[in-house]
Amino acid sequence: TGKFTYDPGFLSTASCQSSITYIDGDKGELLYRGYPIEQLAVNCDFLETCYLLLNGELPNASEKAEFVGRVNKHTMVNEQMQFFLRGFRRDAHPMAVLTGLVGGMSAFYHDTTDITNPQHREIAAIRLIAKMPTLVAMAYKYSVGQPYIYPKNELSYTANFMRMMFGTPCEDYQPDDVLVRAMDRIFILHADHEQNASTSTVRLCGSSGTNPYAAIAAGVACLWGPAHGGANEACLNMLADIQQMGGVAKIGEFITKVKDKNSSVKLMGFGHRVYKNYDPRAKLMRETCHEVLGALGLENDPMFKLAMALEKIALEDEYFVARKLYPNVDFYSGIVQRAIGIPVSLFTAIFALARTVGWIAQLNEMISDPEYKIGRPRQLFTGAASRDVKPLAER
Ligand code: CMC
Repeated sequence: TGKFTYDPGFLSTASCQSSITYIDGDKGELLYRGYPIEQLAVNCDFLETCYLLLNGELPNASEKAEFVGRVNKHTMVNEQMQFFLRGFRRDAHPMAVLTGLVGGMSAFYHDTTDITNPQHREIAAIRLIAKMPTLVAMAYKYSVGQPYIYPKNELSYTANFMRMMFGTPCEDYQPDDVLVRAMDRIFILHADHEQNASTSTVRLCGSSGTNPYAAIAAGVACLWGPAHGGANEACLNMLADIQQMGGVAKIGEFITKVKDKNSSVKLMGFGHRVYKNYDPRAKLMRETCHEVLGALGLENDPMFKLAMALEKIALEDEYFVARKLYPNVDFYSGIVQRAIGIPVSLFTAIFALARTVGWIAQLNEMISDPEYKIGRPRQLFTGAASRDVKPLAER
């Protein structure tokens, strides 16, 4: 009609003003509140990163201690939640379970559901950050038929998560420093990424004034898709498929399939809407990948070798070069998680755990913006013009 700008996929529409995360896709630059991701990944832990995203500044030692203390107060979940969890099939996908559990939090914590109330939002934020690891670990334990492990607050956020995942009542889990650091880095690198699909979903959902738990559940649901957070799982499944086809020797055949105009096969873990030179998170995750596989003596792991060979062949191939397709963070994060012992189906849930703080920071920013309005895109209508309904007998 000419009244609205038509921009499929929002390739050129800024949906908001934001001061949280900056990405320069051409330079391969990612900053949280002005700090380069490369420096945060080396000098900070995940909870410091959470504090930064939420408050705009890195904490000093006492601010950090206070923040960690507040998070620790909320690491347990309402005991009733395990009955809710028990209603799911044991073979349910963890993202299906997590979407339900996070959405269900609004029923368990209804004293903090007024999104327009800053105090409600603040406590909901701490609750979500604190309880996500507990919920993800519970979903995992339920799927393998093991008892839930309660959080132990003397451990760091990430060590605690790994203990809840891998410990049992008969054998405590002693988290290995290299692996904890790797998992913590996965959390930092996934913590925020400006207006990606799930974050935009959280903003749109929250813009109606719904409760924060419902808005975050919408983010979890959106993240699940293979073009977004589900890429890490899809990437590992793709590697397993190539492995089954015959491994490294079959990479050429697979790449030919990817390049075929008539096929919908994509090289999962490659390409990004914004990064057209390289993904700075991928560079850091690649480093971690080598570190973890070295620490675990897995350098000769066939899947890892396959991934490295695939990366090399794709980076030299004209198709990928011409389209500026490079490995993204998920190409490596899946390999790291698999080495740590995380089942493939849980990868995206871990991404959701890490992204929760970003979703909350973005939600807070939106609600605090004086120009904030309910999100309501328009459309270009292409359907039938006005016509008359005929009685059933005449149709
Ligand atoms: N494998 C093969 N071809 C690809 C790929 C890929 N992974 N990604 C893009 N292309 C091709 C695409 O077919 C198109 O080719 P042509 O110009 O001949 O039609 C061209 O490259 C441009 O692609 P596009 O679809 O316009 O790019 P986009 O910006 O809309 O999509 C993307 C970005 C991430 C959805 C896409 O690259 C993709 O599906 N990648 C695989 C899934 C993946 O790894 N996603 C994780 C993203 S990082 C984590 C996150 O932020 O969630």
